[in-house]
Amino acid sequence: MSIYNLFRSLAFKIDPEFVHELSMGSFKVLPSALAGLFNSASLKPQHQLDFAGLKWTGPLGLAAGLDKNAVALSFFSKLAFGAVEIGTVTPKPQSGNPKPRLFRLKEDQSLLNRMGFNNQGMNKVLENILMTSESDRPICLGVNLGKNKVTPANEAPVDYFKLYEKFADHCDYMVVNVSSPNTPGLRDLQQESALAEIFESLASIRQSKPSPLFLKVAPDLPEDGLDSCVNIAKKFNLSGLIATNTTIMPEIGQGGVSGQLLAQKSKEVRRYLLEQLAETPDIALIGVGGVSSFDDLWEFWRLGGKAMQVYTSFIYQGPELLKGVCDGIDQALVKTGARNLNEMLVDYKNLPSDWRS
Ligand SMILES: Cc1cc2nc3c(=O)[nH]c(=O)nc-3n(C[C@H](O)[C@H](O)[C@H](O)COP(=O)(O)O)c2cc1C
Repeated sequence: MSIYNLFRSLAFKIDPEFVHELSMGSFKVLPSALAGLFNSASLKPQHQLDFAGLKWTGPLGLAAGLDKNAVALSFFSKLAFGAVEIGTVTPKPQSGNPKPRLFRLKEDQSLLNRMGFNNQGMNKVLENILMTSESDRPICLGVNLGKNKVTPANEAPVDYFKLYEKFADHCDYMVVNVSSPNTPGLRDLQQESALAEIFESLASIRQSKPSPLFLKVAPDLPEDGLDSCVNIAKKFNLSGLIATNTTIMPEIGQGGVSGQLLAQKSKEVRRYLLEQLAETPDIALIGVGGVSSFDDLWEFWRLGGKAMQVYTSFIYQGPELLKGVCDGIDQALVKTGARNLNEMLVDYKNLPSDWRS
């Protein structure tokens, strides 16, 4: 039994949020030792992925929500993640929704959460980033931005402005998040007019402090809602979209569902968005939602996507997931004869259906 499987068999007997906090605390104080213990894969130079002005050291990043406060950057930077996205960070600290608010749906390899953007607030989170020495930070660091629960919808642009200004000089990309189901009214900001107000308010600061900027979308938007996100990305020169956040499944419980129960819906949204973005290669799509193996990356690549992120499958599989991805890339490179991932993805329409060499 691997160390992670042993850890998981014990951890899964305990309250999920407690395990999460205990783990993050341990990763913070013992980053090297624990990364050494858990790590089973290494990224190689040929696994690097360049897109949207970013350099990811591998094609699979850590999604937002796991290290909300940037306390474990040093730990995560030692695992085979190509990028790490912290947050969601709000301007002021907030405690989030009442507990319990995180639930395992083990049989479905899924999670239900209604955390509600619990985080230490932008000042403290920036302090946490800066307290991590640059060499211990991920090569590509993203910051996911959200409005405070108490901020009325019409003042949301002010929150996003403050956050952008705070982090622009200290990360590699930022994400406007209006797609969490756990902040009342937040998803209403996905309407095109509301999104336009947010990005208009960012226009001047984006000129003085340019930084790649993404919009994270919900999997529950109808096609015209997704079209609005594409329009916004084009109109405001965004670096791309991130699809998707968690989905609502009221029959399971209040909150957002992630993992395998989200996978199909998320995949359909990504397929639709990639079709809409086919003529605008400068606007990237970062895929997230139910990604659980190298096969998912391969399928995404064959549609023209590049980078993906994970949260839930990392909880269920641990670092074995990253090993599978690294091994998969190596085999795919042999199969296609490409020297590196960037080269392999140029000709994505001709990738074979099977990547195994
Ligand atoms: C416990 C938990 C907390 C999350 N918190 C955030 C968050 O703060 N901001 C955000 O943009 N996404 C958040 N997410 C969503 C993930 O980033 C991701 O979009 C979603 O879980 C789908 O990916 P997955 O199926 O790999 O988990 C959270 C997910 C989980 C499970």
